Formats: sequence, structure tokens, C-alpha cells
Amino acid sequence: MIPQDFIQQLLDRTDIVALVERYVPLKKAGANYQARCPFHNEKSPSFSVSPTKQFYHCFGCGAHGTAITFLMEHAGYSFIDAVKELAGQVGMQLPDDGKRVAPEEDSRRDKLYERMDIAARHYRQALKTHEPAIAYLKHRGLTGETAAKFALGVANDDWQPLAAAFADYQDALLVEAGLVISNDGKRYDRFRDRVMFPIRNERGQVIAFGGRIMQKGEPKYLNSPETPLFHKGRELYGLFEHRRSIQHEDQVLVVEGYMDVVMLDQHGVDNAVATLGTAITSDQAARLLRLANQVVFAFDGDAAGRKAAWRALENSLPQARDGKLLSFLFLPDGEDPDSFVRAQGADAFKKLCHQAMPLSDFLFNELSTQTDLASQEGKVRLATLTNPYIAKLTQAPLLTRALRQRLDSLTGLESPRAQGERFRPTSRQSRPSPGARQGRGAVQPSSWRILLQALLHDPGRASQMTDLPELSSPEATAVHAVISLAREHPEIPARDIPDHFLGRPEHELIVHAAGELLKWDEQYDLEADFQGALNGVMTQANRIAVKEFSGRKPSDMSDQEKALLLASLKIRKPV
Ligand code: UTP
Ligand code: MN
Repeated sequence: MIPQDFIQQLLDRTDIVALVERYVPLKKAGANYQARCPFHNEKSPSFSVSPTKQFYHCFGCGAHGTAITFLMEHAGYSFIDAVKELAGQVGMQLPDDGKRVAPEEDSRRDKLYERMDIAARHYRQALKTHEPAIAYLKHRGLTGETAAKFALGVANDDWQPLAAAFADYQDALLVEAGLVISNDGKRYDRFRDRVMFPIRNERGQVIAFGGRIMQKGEPKYLNSPETPLFHKGRELYGLFEHRRSIQHEDQVLVVEGYMDVVMLDQHGVDNAVATLGTAITSDQAARLLRLANQVVFAFDGDAAGRKAAWRALENSLPQARDGKLLSFLFLPDGEDPDSFVRAQGADAFKKLCHQAMPLSDFLFNELSTQTDLASQEGKVRLATLTNPYIAKLTQAPLLTRALRQRLDSLTGLESPRAQGERFRPTSRQSRPSPGARQGRGAVQPSSWRILLQALLHDPGRASQMTDLPELSSPEATAVHAVISLAREHPEIPARDIPDHFLGRPEHELIVHAAGELLKWDEQYDLEADFQGALNGVMTQANRIAVKEFSGRKPSDMSDQEKALLLASLKIRKPV
């Protein structure tokens, strides 16, 4: 482990602008630098790098991070490699225990990559003379060119095909790489008598394999196990080969199988990726949405396909964003993209993609089949079924609103308003501040939002703030989370806060709010807004308390409640 304070010093000495500039041409824009975002495809620049705050942020796709994350996400470095690279640039020595553990860890990974590479070359070479495998691929309509593009290979029909590739077949790393199985002292290859599909990471390194049996048999596809190099919930087959086309077309097609990706590519549809035998994970969906604005999921038209599509919908809802289009394409029963494109051609397939069902239609279609909309009870049931899904759309306020409207019109009911909407400040609290926020549109940030931004700008405030009321809106939750983090770690630099929430529900909101700091202009009077916002949230909380208490007799209240009510009534007077 590298100590946190080493990382902080490293980031303090690194110039993120100079670093990013090596990969992406930057233009100065006010206090910051701008570019077209390297993490997603766009025409006008929404990617900003702040030299003072030392982070980057994309207003389009939400990419956000430090110099270290930039190297990891953009240049494909591992964490430790990114740290080493930056340390080398600023002349810092990795601390002792980093030196001891990290390079070992690192060189073990390098060795695993090397083993995978040797195996991939071996399988590939073997295919050149393997008549049955060549015949199998030909029979499936694959050209040699396509097989080469995807580096297909074959594992011989033998117990130890890889013994020919490695001088030391007893090497423990072969087992760790998932290539060799060790059982009761006996060793044999995991992949035998199969056509081999190498799975590559975004840097093109082989990290796993999928092997297809050529005759009948089980399992049809055998995949590498989870290894230090391979986490199947994160990787996508075809992403290395298709990344550029996906960005260029601004659309990614998600299919179920290796052969689907390969055969579509052969027909010129080169923006497909496949999940590896599982439903798409939220992590995978997030990766794809960073590359393109449109994601089309393709599934078989049968019951299993619809079930798989539903799981894809559930897992991608939390990643959906306004302006992104997620849609679902159902193939005719019994077809998969491979068989369809072979039979009907690329144009017919693209037409299907254009006609794919938007996420919202799929959601309502599926849930409507579970209810009888002719009855009042059925309408209520539709609302109760739909609400949990809408609630997962935490990053897409406009889509949320559209779905609620649709639900309202289907049911004739009015669905509950979004949590937090109740807490919008009135115009009194959100008066314009003396210094303007740059780029302020029609939407005025809520009091909680302003508090969040102020804390992300200067986490040191947290220690001096009075305790805020507990409210259940996402913004209030985020404010509380940042306050407790900053109180626990009083020295935490502002730029490190978003990363602390990785994987937590508050993460997106915090990243987004941190990005908004870049829009502040120099004269922005944060203090005035901050005080206004503090008053704002106190007043709102009290107003809610008064409302709650007002229906109750004072004789039923505890002393504490009475005191609270009295205090609330006082604060209600204009501040
Ligand atoms: P399918 O059974 O639909 O196979 O599995 P397919 O892609 O059409 O394969 P072909 O055309 O018969 O060669 C879809 C995907 O599910 C995973 C694989 O990733 C496969 O491509 N799978 C399937 C496995 O991992 N293991 C299996 O045994 C079967
Ligand atoms: Mn198939």
C-alpha cells in the first residue's frame, strides 16, 4: 500500500494541465483549460481541467478525477503504474513499503500478462495448421481476415496443449492465470479441443479467453476464471477492437455472444461488444455510457432474452443520464445477431437497431403486462411497480420527470413528487449573489446544492458548521456525507473528496457538484450564497417541522418537541 500522504504530495507537485496536455490538446478558457472530452465522443468541448483545483471534469459524461485517475482511465495505467509514472516526473521516490510490495505485485502482474500473451500466440499459431478448427470456422462463415482481427486460435485436443508453449509447465503462474488446472497433483490445460477467443483489455493485452467447443458438448463456451487480470463483471469482449468505432459512431451495441461480435464486425457492424456470459453490470454500463451517447442492447426475442433484457435494464438504470439513449432490440425468435446478420445482412440489422425500443417503452410495456389498467387497483399497482424503477434513475432528472408524467397519464393518478423537490428554496433564499456564477442558466441551484459546492470547495468549513437538519433528499444526504467525511479527516484536500465516495450512491452527485465549481467566476461571492443557503435549509426544515407539529395538540407533544416547535416558529420570520 502506498500511504495516502505520499499520494497527496505527489498530486500537489504534479501539474495536471501539463499531464493532460500530453494526451489531449487543451485551450485556455478563463481560469481553466478546455478540450473535447477524451472519455466520450462530442463535438463541442465540455471537458475542463482546473490548474488551481488540480482535477478534470467533463460536464457531458461526468468523467472526473485527478492526475492519477486520468492516467488510469485514459492511458490504461494501473494505479501503481500511474503513481510511479507521476513520481518519476516530479522526482519523488516511492516510499519504502511501496517499493517493497508494489513492484513485486506489479511484476507478478507483468508475468501473468506475459503468460497470457505466450498462450494466445500459441493458440493462434496452432490454428494455422488445425484442419478441423479451420473447417469449423469456415462452416460458420468466418473469413481468415476476421479470425486474424480477433486473434482467434485453437487449443489442441490433448491434455496439455500448452506444454509445448511453456518451458516450465509446473510454473504456478500458469494456474494463477487460469490456463492450467492443478488437481490432485496432476496438471492439465483448462482449454482443450476448443476454438479460442482471446479477451483483451483496453490496452490490447490478453487477460482471459473464451473457448468454444467444436462438436456438441458442455459447456459450449468455457471462460477463464476470475484472475488478478480478469474480472468478468468489468470487462467487455470487443471493447479493445471496437473502441474507436464506438466513439466515432457515438453508439455501442451490446450483444450476448463472442460470435455475435465477430460476425457483426465481419459484416461491417464494428461497434458491438459482448458481456461475458452474464447480465451487463452497472460498472460495464457506466463504461459504455462514457464512450457513447447511445447504447443499444440486443437480445433474443424469446422469454430468456426478455428476461436478460430486463436484468440489463435494472442494472443500467442507475447509470442512465439525460441526453443518453438506452434502447432494447429484440431479434426474431431463434435468431441471434450472428445468424441474423449472416442471413439478412448489415443493412437489415442496422434497421433493427434504429427501431430498438427506448428504455422507457420497454419499462412500461413490461410492467403494464403485469397489471390490469382497466381497474383502479390495477392502476395503483402499476404505480407501485413502476416507482422503484424510477427511483433508480438517480442521474437523470429530466427522464425521471418524463417517466412520472407518463405514469400519471397511464394511471390518472398523481405520482409522488421527487424527493427533495419539496425542499427547493423559495425565491427569497435564492436571491442572486453579488458576484455572478458563470454560465448560470435558468436553473438556480438549491440551498443544499450550494452547501455541497461550498464544502467541496473548502472542506475545512465542515468543522465550523452547526449541525444541519436531517432531510431525505439526495442532496441533503450528500451534504451530510461530505460533512462527516471532512470532520473525520480535517486535512483532506478538496480534490480527493469525490473519490472517497466511489461506488456509493452519493458519488455522482458529488462529482457533478465538484464539476460545477469550475463554472464559478473569480468574483463569485461564495460567502453570501453560503450564508443564504444555510438560512435556507434551516428555514425549510423548520417549516416542515411546523407543518408536522401543527396537526398535533401541544398536550400530546414531548417537551423537546414543544421547544422545537417554538424555535421553528421564531425562525420562520423572515431572516
Ligand atoms: P449462446 O448459447 O447464445 O451462444 O451464449 P452463441 O453466442 O450463440 O454461440 P454460438 O453462436 O453457438 O457459437 C451466448 C454467450 O453466453 C456465454 C458466451 O459468452 C456466449 O457467447 N456462454 C454461453 C458461456 O459463457 N458459456 C456457455 O456454456 C454458453
Ligand atoms: Mn450464436
